[in-house]
Amino acid sequence: MSTDEVDWSALRARAVEVMGHAYAPYSGYPVGAAGLVDDGRLVAGCNVENGSYGVALCAECGMVSDLVAGGGGRLVAVVCVDGAGKVVTPCGRCRQLIHEHGGDDCRLLTPQGDRSMAQMLPQAFELDPRDSGS
Ligand code: THU
Repeated sequence: MSTDEVDWSALRARAVEVMGHAYAPYSGYPVGAAGLVDDGRLVAGCNVENGSYGVALCAECGMVSDLVAGGGGRLVAVVCVDGAGKVVTPCGRCRQLIHEHGGDDCRLLTPQGDRSMAQMLPQAFELDPRDSGS
């Protein structure tokens, strides 16, 4: 699956669908995220809040959990939407998560169009998990 094969409208439709399951009673701001994986499958997540406001689970966290729990793979393209179905960009922590599982070349739909993760998170922090650091 390569970036020129991305069906953006199908990916956005999946993000809107999963946004409908968001649990956001505190902020009233539901979010949905959908990702295309390099093996062709779609992964998705919605935000899940709780009474400790600061530790809400973003929609992108759910999407990445879906990716990893489903066997892993690399994210090729990602779309996030708000409660109105409008395209929104991921927060900083979630850009790091998407970059970790998609790299510089993963595409992200933004309100300004299709961008690469290298553009959305320049000079991303990268730690080789095999490197013990010593
Ligand atoms: N949220 C996301 O789901 N993704 C982001 O990238 C930023 C924010 C959620 C967290 C919270 O439930 C709501 O949006 C309002 O901040």
